[in-house]
Formats: sequence, C-alpha cells, structure tokens
Amino acid sequence: MEENIAIFETAFVTADFRAMDTLLSKDVHAHLWPTPRTKEYRKDYVTQVSAHEPFAHCLRNRFFLDYIARLTTDQGLDMLINFGCGFSMYPFLLPKTLEHIEIDMPNAIAFKKERIAHWQKTGVLPQRKITFLEADFNTDYAAELKAKILGIKGTKRCFILLEGVLFFIDRTDTDVLFELFGQLQQEGDYLGSVSFPKEVEKSPAFKKLAAFALQRLDANAKFEYQTVEDYFYSTLDGYRLMEHEHTISLAALYVPEHSLKEAEVLNEHMYILKKE
Ligand SMILES: C[S@@+](CC[C@H](N)C(=O)[O-])C[C@H]1O[C@@H](n2cnc3c(N)ncnc32)[C@H](O)[C@@H]1O
Repeated sequence: MEENIAIFETAFVTADFRAMDTLLSKDVHAHLWPTPRTKEYRKDYVTQVSAHEPFAHCLRNRFFLDYIARLTTDQGLDMLINFGCGFSMYPFLLPKTLEHIEIDMPNAIAFKKERIAHWQKTGVLPQRKITFLEADFNTDYAAELKAKILGIKGTKRCFILLEGVLFFIDRTDTDVLFELFGQLQQEGDYLGSVSFPKEVEKSPAFKKLAAFALQRLDANAKFEYQTVEDYFYSTLDGYRLMEHEHTISLAALYVPEHSLKEAEVLNEHMYILKKE
C-alpha cells in the first residue's frame, strides 16, 4: 500500500536525495537519515514527479555549502541560522569555527537533536556549536523566536538560510518570516532563499509535483503550495539581491557534461541577498 508522509518528513527525502551523489552534494552524512519507509516514498517521488530531483537537490546543497564556506573564509562569517533546517548537515560540512542555530517544527527538531547527540556520543559525528530551536511558521511564533535568536546571536555576522520551505507555507507566513530576518540581521549579513517562481507552475514537472503533494502529503489544512515571483526578492526592503541561480544554471556550472531534459526538471530558484 502507498504510504503518505507528513510535511516534516519531506526532510528525510531531501537527505536521501543528497546521499545519492555525495561527490556532488558533498553531504557525506546524509545517508544517516533515510528510513526504509522514506526510501520507498523517495522512489515513488522520483518516478512520479521527476527523475532529476536527486541531482537537483545535490546541486542545491553544493551551491549553498560552497557559498557559505567562501563567506566564512573570506568575510569572517560567524553563524549560520537555518530556518526549516530539516535534516541538512551543514554544521558538519562547514568550517568548525562557524556556530549554528537550527530551526524547524517541534517534532523535526526533537528528532534531529536526539539523533545528532546519539551520533556524537558514538563518534559518528564530531562536536559542533549548535543550538536547536522549535518553531512552527504557521503559528504566532515570531516574537519569542526573535528574542531567543538575538540572545544567542548578539552582533555576530550571520547567514540566514531558507531552503525547501517556501513551497509549504503561504504568503502571509512568508512575509512574517522575511520581516523577522530583517530584524535579526545587520548590514553586511547574508540571506539565502529557495523557491519556485510563478512561471514554473506551467511546467509538466511542477504539475506532477503539485499532484503528488496533493495525493501523498499529509499536510495541514493551511497547505496550498506557494510559488514566489523574482520581484519579491529584487524589491525586498533593506536587502540587495546579489545572486540568482536555478537548477539548470547550477547544472551548467557544476556538471556541464550532465545531460538534462529541461522540460522534466523542477527548476527551483536560489537567491542570495545582502542586508543593506
Ligand atoms: C523539504 S524539507 C527541507 C529541509 C532542509 N531545509 C533541506 O533543504 O534539506 C522542508 C522542511 O521545512 C520544514 N517546514 C515546513 N513547514 C514548516 C513550518 N510551518 N514551520 C517550520 N518548519 C516547516 C519541514 O519541517 C521540513 O524540515
């Protein structure tokens, strides 16, 4: 029988994708997360939505990993704050000087915290400076989370990452998130965000994703997938858009020899912004 998964469990599937080509993703710890059940789901997803999804997710991880590593070395970045972190493993892939705040839904954070502590105790993972914080972006969470983050962050220079999340939340909750980012960040800080642009809705791959999500995701009553126009980023108050990539441009950059059937690619867009 086909099993559905909850929204936070999509993080197992993205980890599974990253584990499929670690030379590209560089996420050598991603294999720790998938379970037999989420692997079955991943197989259905790849068959029914797009065969290019593992490749696309490896590219996405690699792009942010390289970008954040470069900023850490060249510009003395102190901290990565990952909103909707899921089971991504940046704390163990980036220079160990970097501090981390990992934020996700309570069930995802409780599970990640327990597993990381276990793997650190058993020598599978090294120690890192990580604070785990719970927040559900569909609720009234912002003031409490802001106070907690500012208490840890102080004036440290940070990169905020929002990767693989905006599809699941609506525009009102998105505006609350970006307002919070503006309040947390100082001039010169960076923000990385991932979303599908509106025009991708017309592509056959996105139509398949929307149908698959409707059928196989146990979403909350509020779920209605979101796409985000480029101008949301180019006109974001207090930020300057520094870089705009997408799956196809990153493929050409990192693996030019890889042949992609563009019509079958879920062309996700990545934006890097700098606080002014
Ligand atoms: C597809 S996963 C991506 C995880 C991770 N960022 C990555 O790229 O591997 C989506 C993540 O968004 C989180 N998420 C979705 N809706 C959320 C909400 N309302 N509040 C907090 N986290 C949410 C999920 O729990 C999940 O970890």
